[in-house]
Amino acid sequence: MHKPVLLKEVVEYLDPKPGDQIIDATLDGGGHAMALVEKIAPDGRVLGIEWDLELLKEFESKVKSSKLKDNFILVNDSYTNIESIVREYNFRPNGILFDLGLSSWHYERSGRGFSFKRDEPLDMRYNTYREVKGKNEKVKTAAEIVNTYSKKELEKIIREYGEEQFAESIAKNVVRTRKVEPILKTSELVEVIGDSVPFWYKRRKIHFATKTFQALRIEVNAELKNIEKGVSSAINILEPACPEQGRRGGRVAVISFHGLEDKMVREIFKKKAKEGVVKFVIKRTIKPSWEEQKANPRSRSAKLKIAEKL
Ligand SMILES: C[S@@+](CC[C@H](N)C(=O)[O-])C[C@H]1O[C@@H](n2cnc3c(N)ncnc32)[C@H](O)[C@@H]1O
Repeated sequence: MHKPVLLKEVVEYLDPKPGDQIIDATLDGGGHAMALVEKIAPDGRVLGIEWDLELLKEFESKVKSSKLKDNFILVNDSYTNIESIVREYNFRPNGILFDLGLSSWHYERSGRGFSFKRDEPLDMRYNTYREVKGKNEKVKTAAEIVNTYSKKELEKIIREYGEEQFAESIAKNVVRTRKVEPILKTSELVEVIGDSVPFWYKRRKIHFATKTFQALRIEVNAELKNIEKGVSSAINILEPACPEQGRRGGRVAVISFHGLEDKMVREIFKKKAKEGVVKFVIKRTIKPSWEEQKANPRSRSAKLKIAEKL
């Protein structure tokens, strides 16, 4: 079961009220959504978006027996389409949550090669399709990327999305290896990476394949582009403040897990604040308490940022 990160803080800062409409843009097992729905019941609704159909179905069957099941609207789509989704459901969000990245389920049970610790096909897709310029486009698997991108392209994504210092050597070895035989499984890729980095690099606490796997996952799912589109769109659709009725504007909360995501969110918030569209609810970045980090090691790198529509 995926443990929700910064749960108390998300509820505190999104501050949902009975009757509110809230979007969980990255539903997964609904750890956050279940806590949020309690706050908006009995008349409010939570619209849960999950790109991975298997995860959405799992949540659907879980929520069936809940007394709050009618307070949910569940959608299998990418949050990049959040504007058309709210139009379709006539939804006016007072709060929107993004808990970025992937679920523990992806590493542990998906069988799609997200983890270098398991020998699985190199897939790494959350969904087999994504919408590009209004058309559904098949998402390339990690194996397709590894076996077809040029050395230069591979080096670029491993360096930029993985912030991997041995990107050049890894890309060179990938290209050399695939000339003999395609790289189709996680174990094969781990071996190539292992052959491309120095001995001391393999003795560090962080596994030597971590950054390359992260880079591939980001490229496969276009994660940074998604964040830019998703978070900007979320700000567009949030309910504005209504001082006559004494109502503040809707809030967007984003939990990020690595520097590139965090930087992107910061830049979007800053730009929108400059345009006078949002204000920062809290200037500093919120991080998990020491107790949470100890209980849930995955939370260690989490950062929460919150903005409010003006
Ligand atoms: C970190 S998990 C969310 C965990 C959830 N908040 C909880 O506590 O149970 C992120 C989820 O976002 C989903 N996801 C990733 N990209 C997405 C996208 N573009 N649109 C919608 N869901 C996405 C992943 O499949 C994954 O299940």
